[in-house]
Amino acid sequence: MEVIQTVAAMQAHAEARRREGRRLALVPTMGALHEGHLTLVSAARCHADHVTVSIFVNPTQFGPGEDYARYPRQLARDVAALEALGVDVVFAPSVAEMYPEGPEANLTWVYVERLDAHLCGRYRPGHFRGVTTVVAKLFNICKPHVAVFGLKDAQQFQIIRRMVRDLHYDIELIGVPTVRAADGLALSSRNAYLTPEERTQAVVLSQAIEAAQQAIRQGEQRVEAIVEAMRQTLARAPLARVQYAEVVDAETLQPVDRIMPGQQVLIGVAVFFGQTRLIDSAFVEVP
Ligand code: PAF
Repeated sequence: MEVIQTVAAMQAHAEARRREGRRLALVPTMGALHEGHLTLVSAARCHADHVTVSIFVNPTQFGPGEDYARYPRQLARDVAALEALGVDVVFAPSVAEMYPEGPEANLTWVYVERLDAHLCGRYRPGHFRGVTTVVAKLFNICKPHVAVFGLKDAQQFQIIRRMVRDLHYDIELIGVPTVRAADGLALSSRNAYLTPEERTQAVVLSQAIEAAQQAIRQGEQRVEAIVEAMRQTLARAPLARVQYAEVVDAETLQPVDRIMPGQQVLIGVAVFFGQTRLIDSAFVEVP
């Protein structure tokens, strides 16, 4: 396995593999890898014969006061885990390599309009602009045929899908279902911040998603009632501070008052435990 740190070396490597006729997959990550990321790598293996994992904590997707500085960084451990999985390349650039004049001096942005108006985008202004910009850069640097993302970040996945469509990227996107701990908590690098008590109570996120799914299965069409079922579940955790519990159309990511049979919706929650912000979500087809 090669660890590549410069844009020029990564582009040359990808170009050479393409000329050999290899099918290239990219798994973009911010490191601090857990079982969920490793599942993304396995999915990448099924769709390509060369897998690159990028590890880059992207400063432009963190807002002021968010956890950019304290985001867990453990490159040596991540590289060892990826080597054991048979990954071909780890692309781990520095901030200076990705933003040569500094992130603040960046002038060119990729921004998918409207789809960031609700869910996480509403509370993290500029976040998705940072995500789509860095993902566009990673696509241009790693030149994948296939890119793999986790569906836990469901809004991110839908926004990247739209970017790929609108900018005619010749890249197949694969969304991999969320990997969960035994009690249902979605795996996330940020779970490492939780105290034992917060960790126990964090199970309410997946329970809230399940409560919404159950209400929908039972024929509830009023979004107000579905959201109320989620909020009641979240209220079981005294340490939880709810940021949002929402149901939106899965394609437009706009809120709806009533869900319709056959419609695809996205259910999402974001909850703070102290300074730690956790999210969970599910795509549901209304029966
Ligand atoms: O999902 C993430 O870890 C990040 O948002 C991504 C896609 C690697 C871009 O920095």
